[in-house]
Amino acid sequence: MPEYYSGNVVDNHRDAIEEASTAIETDLFIGGKFRQSEGGDYFETVDPTVKEPIAEIARGQKTDVDAAVSAAADAADEWGDTVPPERQEVLRELAERIEDNVEEFTLLESLDSGKPLDVARGEVERAAEFLDYYAGVCRSIEGKQLPYDSDALIYTRREPYGVVGQIIPWNFPLVMVAYKLGPALATGNTVVMKPAEQTPLTALRLAREAQDVVPDGVFNVVTGFGEEAGQPLTEHPEVRKLAFTGETTTGHAIMKSAAERAVPVTLELGGKSPFIVFPDGDLDVAVESVAGVMYYNTGQSCDAPSRVFVHDDVREEFMEKFIERTHEEVVGDPLREGTTMGPLASEAQFDKVTSYLDVGRDEGATVETGGGIPESEDTEHGYFVEPTVFAEAQNDFRIAQEEIFGPVETVISWSDYDEMIRQANDTEFGLAAGMATNDVSLANQTAEKLEAGNVWVNKYATLPPGTPFGGYKQSGIGREHTRETLLAYTRCKTVDIDTTHSPM
Ligand code: NAI
Ligand code: MG
Repeated sequence: MPEYYSGNVVDNHRDAIEEASTAIETDLFIGGKFRQSEGGDYFETVDPTVKEPIAEIARGQKTDVDAAVSAAADAADEWGDTVPPERQEVLRELAERIEDNVEEFTLLESLDSGKPLDVARGEVERAAEFLDYYAGVCRSIEGKQLPYDSDALIYTRREPYGVVGQIIPWNFPLVMVAYKLGPALATGNTVVMKPAEQTPLTALRLAREAQDVVPDGVFNVVTGFGEEAGQPLTEHPEVRKLAFTGETTTGHAIMKSAAERAVPVTLELGGKSPFIVFPDGDLDVAVESVAGVMYYNTGQSCDAPSRVFVHDDVREEFMEKFIERTHEEVVGDPLREGTTMGPLASEAQFDKVTSYLDVGRDEGATVETGGGIPESEDTEHGYFVEPTVFAEAQNDFRIAQEEIFGPVETVISWSDYDEMIRQANDTEFGLAAGMATNDVSLANQTAEKLEAGNVWVNKYATLPPGTPFGGYKQSGIGREHTRETLLAYTRCKTVDIDTTHSPM
């Protein structure tokens, strides 16, 4: 990045927006072309560090969704007839296009979401890695021959659904595109994607690359708001499969729409994941596992370990280390080198997180550090909050039950194992869990008891491509990031042929 990202924060961002401007696409991507929404309306996407608009983005409506679904439906037969090596080639090329333009994607992602540049760059690379992963596994799609009738050839085919609708959130904008687009294209489906209204830039930038790489109509992007563009996509009769990541209540609404047409859904929803610190656990490992994810992306991760259950015997030492680690976070301008934590992604998120800072105090939790708004030249213009640790919390507090989606840790102490497990599972969510212990039997036992789709031991949230990811209970349905995901994007057809009719 150029050196000028070191001066005044507002100037930094104006310069950066200017620099990024040539990379910005603002219109809908339908049938391989960028075009205005039918109503010609636009909305602002805002830089959360300085609350200034970055660009005016097309505000898609139902008629635009109709056009995109129609383009996707037109492309579905030909794309569905391709063989895996052809689709592998397309996915691999798309991944390469990201790799070739990492810095452009990185700057767009950072400006749009407030992620520090290093964080954004890591995610842009991860998006490419996931497209590449799906390029690889798309060769594993196979049917079966079933030997259950000696007078027949029975076999199965895995066929694409046709048009898939995908709705994604703002916390990992480009990574989410890759998580969703990868398996859908790998299996021969065509896609209409609705990015989050807060962070549409990198999906649109990828669409520009897709223009040269992906056949027209196979990947379409309709930007806009949830009710105006998202909902019509979930209700469209030609959309045969839906995938969504976001808030649990939105997931419920999408499932209801899908129910009208018996359309299958993949849902990746909220979390309130526990991390258990056992008395024998390495406290440095525990602290880094929790803080490394809790403060990453300003706490805006669905799988963040936002409830720490720390054993009484090590509570004091853990708290000391954890607070010290919290103070190491460098909150500031995402464009400045060395910043580890940027602002929250939007005003709505800022209002939500700051309201929980009051809720925690009112409930009687103690604020061990943070709890307010940082005061510095870097932070005074944006949606910044301090990394915050609440202690002496009870599991039935709202700060222990509700998804805050900010850098706010809730620490609960425990002494009785069974009661701790009961509490760890006592939430509507079940996305992930973690623990620190050196006792292998205890780790296995505990992993089995936890109601969560992912459990990490002496680490947290490492998710290399190929590792299933998804929730129990209200955290979602289905598993992403893995070969199993391909099954969710294909339908099984059984063909049964009588083999007894022979002219000989
Ligand atoms: P959201 O679930 O409303 O938005 C996610 C996506 O769904 C966006 O693209 C949005 O435009 C779309 N959408 C919204 N309403 C829709 C509808 N009725 N039909 C179809 N699409 C719709 O999440 P939001 O409002 O951005 O964030 C609210 C809270 O949700 C956050 O504070 C956080 O707690 C949680 N959240 C969880 C995420 C996760 O990864 N589990 C991601 C984003 C938000
Ligand atoms: Mg919402």
